[in-house]
Amino acid sequence: MSNTQPEQPVLRAEALRKHFPVRGIGTSGVVHAVDDVDLDLHAGRVVALVGESGSGKSTIARLLAQLMPLTAGRIVLDGEDATVHNRRAFRRYVGRVQMIFQDPFGSINPIHPVRYTLTRALRIHRGRLRGRELEAALDELLERVQLTPTARYVDKYPHELSGGQRQRVAIARALAANPDVLLADEPISMLDVSIRLGILNLLKDLRDRLKIAILYITHDIASARYFADRTMVMYAGRIVETGDSESVTQDPKHPYTQLLVRSAPDPDDLEARAHGARGEAPSLVNPPSGCRFNPRCPFATELCRTEVPPLLEVGEGRQAACWGYSERPDRPKVTDVLEVLGERPGLDTVAGAPYSTNGGTEAST
Ligand SMILES: Nc1ncnc2c1ncn2[C@@H]1O[C@H](COP(=O)(O)OP(=O)(O)OP(=O)(O)O)[C@@H](O)[C@H]1O
Ligand code: SF4
Ligand SMILES: [Mg+2]
Repeated sequence: MSNTQPEQPVLRAEALRKHFPVRGIGTSGVVHAVDDVDLDLHAGRVVALVGESGSGKSTIARLLAQLMPLTAGRIVLDGEDATVHNRRAFRRYVGRVQMIFQDPFGSINPIHPVRYTLTRALRIHRGRLRGRELEAALDELLERVQLTPTARYVDKYPHELSGGQRQRVAIARALAANPDVLLADEPISMLDVSIRLGILNLLKDLRDRLKIAILYITHDIASARYFADRTMVMYAGRIVETGDSESVTQDPKHPYTQLLVRSAPDPDDLEARAHGARGEAPSLVNPPSGCRFNPRCPFATELCRTEVPPLLEVGEGRQAACWGYSERPDRPKVTDVLEVLGERPGLDTVAGAPYSTNGGTEAST
């Protein structure tokens, strides 16, 4: 079968931007949480969005779920502008695009049994089912998330379930809408390591059997390689690298991706690093000018400090936002970060503070 014409994405984000206004004593400004992000989700495929804490991953998920307005950009569903402007349009939209959150403890109401949570979702999306019809729909949802025999789970309260079982209920609730798109914001990061794979395999099964398009947000680039067809790496509100997951993780091109992949042999190590090692999410009120990675990049030149690098082709279906891959005569000479920095540098040891609050024009030398 010829595949020259790329199929239309189910959900497309064009030039997404989100700036949050911030006001402090005597100051005002905006947090540049997301800038100029393009993203396509296709039926039956998984895209992973990887990046450290504060890079803008959840903001993208919330924008795609239309839980908050865009500063700029467009959301396109099946080729048509789907930006919602009223409650009715939002209800229609959530019937197609559902979100799964990180914390299954917080996202399911603890005072109601599973039956109530799922019945409510079924009523919202499929109308008022009763009697046998309702029981059959509940059974089907619980079977889809492999909570079987279903009778054992349907009348349980959240506190009687494990974290993994609760996340399965949250996924079942999303499936009540028969969605085409699932936005999964770190769906396994709060779960026991031993049950994470089970949830990823369940999501894989939904991708393959129901042809759902999935956005999988994670700190853990190893799980992106395992689960996602494509991987997008985010840094400080921008996409810095995209490509098929195998190539991005095995042969990273952008210096930041190289650090992300190679400085952390163990996924949990990366997670700990991303979450805790540098404490608070960095400020993006005054992000560095030019390439936002320039204060930490060992290859940075004047060009990097003044002009924003576009996403450039770096292989088949692969892109990196780094001037080193351009044809510019003044381009930086990019080699392998590890050759320059030595073996396994920590992300926080690279060239000073992660984000400058002075506009980023002072490069570390
Ligand atoms: N409502 C808000 N108001 C102001 N700033 C916000 C708001 N929500 C997010 N931000 C800021 O936007 C940036 C991106 O945040 P976001 O939560 O999207 O990052 P993330 O990549 O999901 O991080 P994490 O991995 O810790 O979940 C951060 O600097 C954050 O502080
Ligand atoms: S070489 Fe320049 S453009 Fe490339 S990542 Fe480093 S600072 Fe950014
Ligand atoms: Mg987040």
